[in-house]
Formats: sequence, C-alpha cells, structure tokens
Amino acid sequence: MVKSLLRQKLQDKFSGVSFDVLVPPDDKMGDYSTNIAFVLATRPSHKATEGKEKKGEDPMKVGEELASELSRDKDLAGVFQKVEAVRPGFVNFFLKKEFLQKQLAETYKNIDSVGLSDTGNGKTVIVEYSSPNIAKPMHIGHLRSTIIGDSLANVYEKLGYKVIRWNYIGDWGTQFGKLIAAWKRWGDPEKLKTNPSTTLVELYVMFHQNLKKDPSLEGEGQREFLKLEQGDSQNRELWELFRSQSLEEFRCIYKDLNIGMFQIIKGESDYESKLKPLIVELQQKGIATESEGALVIELENLPVAMLQKSDGATLYMTRDLASLEDRIRSYQADKILYIVANQQTLHFEQLFAVAKKLGLKNAELAHVKFGMVLGEDGKKLATREGKVIPLQDVIDKIVALAGRVVKEKNPELSEKEASEIAKVVGIGALKYNDLKQHPHTDIVFDWKAMLDISGNSGPYLQYAYARLASIIAKAKNRKEGDVSLLTEPEEEKLMKRLLEFSDAVVKCMELNALNSLALYLYELSNEANRFYESIRVLEDENIDRRNARLVLIETAAAILKRGLGILGIETLKRI
Ligand code: ARG
Repeated sequence: MVKSLLRQKLQDKFSGVSFDVLVPPDDKMGDYSTNIAFVLATRPSHKATEGKEKKGEDPMKVGEELASELSRDKDLAGVFQKVEAVRPGFVNFFLKKEFLQKQLAETYKNIDSVGLSDTGNGKTVIVEYSSPNIAKPMHIGHLRSTIIGDSLANVYEKLGYKVIRWNYIGDWGTQFGKLIAAWKRWGDPEKLKTNPSTTLVELYVMFHQNLKKDPSLEGEGQREFLKLEQGDSQNRELWELFRSQSLEEFRCIYKDLNIGMFQIIKGESDYESKLKPLIVELQQKGIATESEGALVIELENLPVAMLQKSDGATLYMTRDLASLEDRIRSYQADKILYIVANQQTLHFEQLFAVAKKLGLKNAELAHVKFGMVLGEDGKKLATREGKVIPLQDVIDKIVALAGRVVKEKNPELSEKEASEIAKVVGIGALKYNDLKQHPHTDIVFDWKAMLDISGNSGPYLQYAYARLASIIAKAKNRKEGDVSLLTEPEEEKLMKRLLEFSDAVVKCMELNALNSLALYLYELSNEANRFYESIRVLEDENIDRRNARLVLIETAAAILKRGLGILGIETLKRI
C-alpha cells in the first residue's frame, strides 16, 4: 500500500521514468527505498535542461535534492518520519510509528475489505484454466493449471475485476471416432460408470492394439468421426455419454482440490459450427492461403499456422481461434489469460499473431505458462513404468501423507477429525508447493518437504495461523485495545509487514504469478512466529497493552487467512 503510494508519487513527478521501489533487506536502510536518482542522473533530458557537456550527474546529488523535496511533500508528511539519500544515491524512507498504528487500527476495523484497491474498475478478465481432455484422466499438468488459474482468478476478483473462470474442455477431434468404433465393439456401460477415464483409455489402447491385426479399423474410426460431425444420433449420444462421465470425474477432483466454480465450461466441440464461417472469413480477408491442399496462415517470424488439413479436418488452432473470437465478442473480455504449460508456447504465439491479423486486438492476451512437475529424482514425475500419473492418485497420496503428520502431532484426535484436517493440510501443501515458485520454472514434488511443518511449506503457514487463532480463542475479557501502546520493535515489524499485503497482491496481477504473495505470507508467518515466541501476550499484567497486542494478533491472523484464501488454501483453528 505504501509502496504503491510512493510509486504513484514518483511517477506523477517524473513521468516516463522507470524505477524500482523496494523493501530493503536491512531496516537500517529504511522501510522503503528507491533507485530513481540513478535513473534520473543519466536521463538525457535531465542533462539537456542542465545544458552542460557532462556525462550525467552525480546520483547522490540528485538523490539529496529529491529527498529534501519529498520531506516537504504534504501527502507524505503523515507517512514518513524521515526521507534521506545515502551513498551512492539511494533514497530511503522511514515510516512514522503513528502512521503504522493508525493503519493497524483501520485494517482491524475493516478486516475483510481494507487494503485492496479497485484496480480492475469493473473490467472483464477471462481466466482460462484446468482445460482437461475428456476420455483421458486429468494429469499433473492440468493440476498446475488448475491451481495457478484458480488463484490468479482470486487475485483479479479481489482487485475489482469481473472475472470469468473458463474451463476449455478438450472434447473434439478424430480420436472420438476411434473411441466410438472401439466402444461399439468392446464397450461395457457398467465399467464406464464406475471408472470413466480408465475405461475410455483402455478402449483407446485396445483400438490401437487391434489396429495392427486389423488395419480396417482406421477407416472405421474415421467414418465414426465423420458420422459424429454430421450429427448421427447414436454417435452423438455416445459422445455425450463419454463427455458427461468425464466431466463428473473432473468435478470430483475440483471438489477435492477445493477450487472456485467455473462460470463457463465450454469446450472445443462448442466451436464446430463456427469453423466454416471463420475459415471463409480468413480466406476472404486474404489471411489464410492454400498450400498443398491445406489452408495455412503465414506469420512474421513464426512458423506457418495450419487451419485445415488437406483432408478438410480442422485443428486445435482453428477451434482456439473461434473460441478467442467468442471470448472477445460475446463476453466483452478486456483481458484473456490462458494458463497452459510451457510446451504450448508456440501455439499461443501463433494464435495471438493470427488474432492480431484478424483485428481482434481490443483485448490484452496473455499465455501464463508453467513448467513441468519433477519427481524427487529430478526427472519428470511418472509411474515406475514411466506412465503419466493420474491426478487423483497424487491427491490421495498427499492427503494420506498429511494424515500421518497430523496424527503424529495430535495423537488424541479421532479418526474423523484427523482425516478432515489431513485433507486441508494435504491440499494446502500441494497448492503452496506450486504457488511459491514462479510458474515458469519446473517444480519438484518432494513429498516430505511439501509437508514439513517447519519449512517453507503450506502446513507451516497454516500452523502459524492456528497458533494466532489459539491465542485469540484463549483471550478472555477483551476490550478495545489502544494501538498507540504498540512500540516494541517486534510489534513495529509486524505492523509494517501487514502494510505490504496489498502490494503483494497487486504484484501477482502485474506479473500473473502468485509467488510474491506466497513469499509475503511466508514472511508474515515468520514475523508472527517471532512475535509469538518473544512476547507473552496473554500473561501481560498491563491489560491495555495486552488488548492492543491482541488487536495486532487478530489483524495478522486475518491477513494471513485472506492471503491464503487467495492462494486457495484453507486455514484451521488447529492442525
Ligand atoms: N486441453 C488442452 C490440453 O490438455 C489444453 C487447452 C489449453 N487451452 C487452449 N485454449 N488451447 O493440452
């Protein structure tokens, strides 16, 4: 919050200059610090006004002038007790105690709303995530997309955007012809009901195994897909059955993961009828051209994008283009985020380039990429036989392991209580392990570290919350606290941390990454733990000070809970 204020102030003063405002690692260097003097000192226009033939100014001198100007600034007078320049030219800002206390009191009063600005101003953002494929189990890549997307959608929502959570199901393509052909030969409706994705995957495998002996199957698959495309009622029904069974399975996973509801579940199949007109439009505008019977789009600095194969079949790209048009035109999106693995980078570069050619430029488009999930051995996470691990197995494993940790810590818990806590702790561990890192990087599944209650893990943060909650629960006869009594260094540090919450959330939006919020919450937990360990709040005989400290604790707990909520992580009163 103070960071945004400072940044705004400096931006208004020096428009067009790019600079940083940081929280320095050592608080002797102030609570905030900026490098703007270095940038200003080398700025050509700055030199020009001076009209001298020198290589730029001394940043220290520029910094000193700026510090003295800002010390006199009316807007900042209530916030900082001191603004000073230090060698070689940083400008450092020191917060006023009274400001910290005032902010704490305000945050405490409006605990659920304060701090987050209305940056979105009602603008619409579509966050597309999860997007699994039917007739296949959801895999670990979809897990990352689901966790990151759900949390980013929370960020935008909190910042005042109208958010549309969109699940773009992979539910169209020639493989469904193969599946229908296989079903007609070997399908078992009972098995499909109990275990849809495994049954469908088995059918798909069976199709390919039998193809070796019986090559006519290939044609059979093609014919079934053609029939499906032409609306044959039996095939349509089968496809709908596969789709609904798969969606049901996905729903169970979403429930286990405790993620927000999708407003739109629209898949590739929804765009079938839009493809022909789109292709005609692209041809008429001269954007698509023919090449060896196929239709392609030439792009600058990128490989050509294929729209239609020579046999007339459309592609993933064609459907994505139709869907993009729909997202902009029918949903008036100002911004569209695609939370999809790194591997599809080229696809999205092509998609966005074609969209530009088509004149779909009113919305800001972003591919929010993420890396792979690696096992403890540093290799791509897989079963012993090298197969993809179904997501449900991952969820079951982390919850079971969390169960062991919970029981070890609280042997007196009943089975039922322990298993409820284990679910929250396990899922929290899974999400935090993902979100604490920048999405572009590969993440490692080190099960033990993910659940390490004393490491940088989800359970550590949940535990910090539970400790704060337990103090509040034990505090009897509370009255309003006088926050001006909070003057100890531990108290100031914690108050300062609380101020940084909204900056951390805004940064998530700016970078489309959650790691700044995760790191913030980790540091807040550390600070809260230090406070908890060094100050015996409940035993304090000075009742007014005790009450003031309880205000601080309750506010810290609330911010921690809100922040974890944005990451999709639940909190408990005990773990
Ligand atoms: N269903 C695709 C997959 O599992 C991901 C879809 C990504 N989104 C998109 N608009 N292409 O690989």
